[in-house]
Amino acid sequence: SAHKMIIAIDGYSSCGKSTLAKELAARLGYNYIDSGAMYRAITLYFLRNAIDLGDHNEVLDALSQISLSFVFNEHRNASDIYLNDENAEPFIRDMIVSEKVSEVAAIREVRSFAVAQQKRMGRKKSIVMDGRDIGTAVFPDAELKLFMTADPEVRVIRRFKELYATNPNITLEEVRDNLQLRDHIDSTREESPLRRADDAVILDNSNLSREEQLKLVLEMVKDRTKAFSVK
Ligand code: CDP
Ligand code: CDP
Repeated sequence: SAHKMIIAIDGYSSCGKSTLAKELAARLGYNYIDSGAMYRAITLYFLRNAIDLGDHNEVLDALSQISLSFVFNEHRNASDIYLNDENAEPFIRDMIVSEKVSEVAAIREVRSFAVAQQKRMGRKKSIVMDGRDIGTAVFPDAELKLFMTADPEVRVIRRFKELYATNPNITLEEVRDNLQLRDHIDSTREESPLRRADDAVILDNSNLSREEQLKLVLEMVKDRTKAFSVK
């Protein structure tokens, strides 16, 4: 399509946002941008450097030392995040990062740092971005906004299966606690909390397969694209 389009996908943890976003990007030829990877990479840096999250100046100083970039695969529907020239992808999904990331992402300075960069990434090309505040704060004018949700226990099992593949010591309990903790912090924080944008379409995929949800959303994209071209 000749028109630049932004698809914003928000929702709770592990409801399948990134799975859907990557598949959409592949089908539509858009760039996929994982905004959560940015908060995770920042958290990794803060953990490694034992940054005191309550110390405003220490946080600002740490942010000034961080440079983030995405290196895309050839299809541009997936990427690795680089933290100061190091591929951080192998570390950012670890439980130790998951346990701290929501606390880090609630810090105002951290959010403005990440959001400024996210906004720049949407300037040139059509993109699909997923996260918590994409439809509300990053791209309030996105052409299509989705708010994804799924039954909490379905989400726990989905994430458990993913993590268990590389870490057989992980427990269901641990995953459940982490998802509950993050959902709680993410939706109650002061700075752009997780909430559905008024114009976001709710997608509950508890009982949808990946193929079914993709088909459904591709139809929505088709409708929006039609709506554009007549404008
Ligand atoms: O693991 P999951 O896919 O659920 O989360 P993620 O997308 O990797 O995001 C990790 C954490 O980063 C979230 O729990 C939020 O605390 C934070 N985040 C955010 O605050 N805003 C975003 N746009 C994306 C992520
Ligand atoms: O990005 P987010 O945290 O919202 O979730 P995800 O990492 O994309 O999805 C978590 C897991 O749910 C993945 O292993 C997906 O394959 C799975 N999933 C599923 O089983 N059925 C769906 N309709 C969507 C995702």
